[in-house]
Amino acid sequence: MKTLIVYFSYTQKTEKVAKYIQKIIGGDLYEIKPKNDLKERTNLMWHSLYLKGVRIKPDIEENLPDFDDYDKIAIGYPIWWFTAPQYVFSFLDLANLKDKDIYLFKTSIDSDGCKSEQQIAKKLTECRVHSCLDGNNCIEDDVMTWINSNELVEIDSKNADYY
Ligand SMILES: Cc1cc2nc3c(=O)[nH]c(=O)nc-3n(C[C@H](O)[C@H](O)[C@H](O)COP(=O)(O)O)c2cc1C
Repeated sequence: MKTLIVYFSYTQKTEKVAKYIQKIIGGDLYEIKPKNDLKERTNLMWHSLYLKGVRIKPDIEENLPDFDDYDKIAIGYPIWWFTAPQYVFSFLDLANLKDKDIYLFKTSIDSDGCKSEQQIAKKLTECRVHSCLDGNNCIEDDVMTWINSNELVEIDSKNADYY
């Protein structure tokens, strides 16, 4: 079975990490793409905060891969407003990831205190969600340790009940 590397990226930093991971462990790439082009949006910061605030899951392209072909699924995203962008939660609603091993990776300016892993794990209760790779400045050893790790994300219900 193969690994699928799913990612959402706005300024291509997470995409770069996704491609780096692919170079090291192999597998296929799949980009989560918003239906409406975000580059045309003049006020992305406030728009994304609004989507989060009112818990709207924006439309994404629905050309999903066949998840049956994969047993390990890596999901990468930038931190937006202290969590994953709403587009990632839209993907999680559409994708059938039951029984998969999920490996999260993220990029940010400073993601200390973010609960994105727990919030995602809370949505994926039928998966094994492994600990998250910090994609900022990661090296090959970090990627190998992360993909071989059996450490699972613990769901902190107090802080992960938002979604
Ligand atoms: C709408 C928006 C919100 C952001 N919110 C945060 C944040 O809460 N914390 C943080 O450390 N970085 C934040 N960032 C910075 C991104 O997480 C960081 O630049 C990321 O590496 C960009 O990844 P990308 O190039 O794959 O889009 C935000 C960026 C955007 C565009």
